[in-house]
Amino acid sequence: MATRIKQLVSHLSGSDMSAELWQDVPLAPPDSIFKLTAAYKADAFKDKVNLGVGAYRDDNNKPWATAILLNDETLDHEYLPITGLAEYTAAAAKLILGPGSPAIKEDRVVSVQTISGTGANHLGALFLSRFYKFNGPPKVYLSNPTWANHHAIFRNVGIEPVDYAYYDPKTIGLDFEGFLAALRDAPERSVFLLHACAHNPTGVDPTQEQWKAIAEVIAAKKHYSFFDCAYQGFASGDLDKDAWAVRHFVERGLPLLVCQVSWETTD
Ligand SMILES: Cc1ncc(COP(=O)(O)O)c(C=O)c1O
Repeated sequence: MATRIKQLVSHLSGSDMSAELWQDVPLAPPDSIFKLTAAYKADAFKDKVNLGVGAYRDDNNKPWATAILLNDETLDHEYLPITGLAEYTAAAAKLILGPGSPAIKEDRVVSVQTISGTGANHLGALFLSRFYKFNGPPKVYLSNPTWANHHAIFRNVGIEPVDYAYYDPKTIGLDFEGFLAALRDAPERSVFLLHACAHNPTGVDPTQEQWKAIAEVIAAKKHYSFFDCAYQGFASGDLDKDAWAVRHFVERGLPLLVCQVSWETTD
């Protein structure tokens, strides 16, 4: 594996001919989180804490889940099937949809394991760009603001996303009326990317009553819900509470996809 990686790197960078080939490749925009990480590393303050990236850390501020996984002999470290480890994807579906979910019982759920949450968003966007077509390519709406990569992920598959009103700086809360108006004004069968909980970057989530009203308009306009659920359990501390919006949409029979990051926790 190490050799293969080395070969790929030298292939991309190794000769005058490849320099000529790649000279017009544009530089991707920097991600502000990585800028924050660089600033954190440069900071000499001894009690510094890095809250930039959502990963569990030990008392020495080192991520530890990877070491546990690598050292666990009971885990299968072989290649997985193309759609991932079936036991894992089934457990992940139960985690977000709930064990008693009608969608699971009626065998209406399809799950695919991806490389990270970014990979899930990419595959979701790619799938919609290929197959979600009513009158041409899908119109995709992102909350204003949203996780910076959402824009790049949709542009990467040829979709120029449009913003919908979400955050109101005056109240430091949800622009609920603006959000509903955007849902109503969007053409039928648009795609709305919704943060299932712990909205990134604002931390502002609709209440359950507001989610009900949002679902109402989504149903009336036949919109498609693209849930990004990167922080289940992090908003309220309760996995079920944080999955409430997704489960409500499923109960209402709304079609949706969920990009889910499932976190491993230990007691
Ligand atoms: C809203 C949201 N979606 C997806 C992701 C991507 O997750 P990952 O780091 O697993 O690629 C993040 C991570 O910051 C996120 O905040």
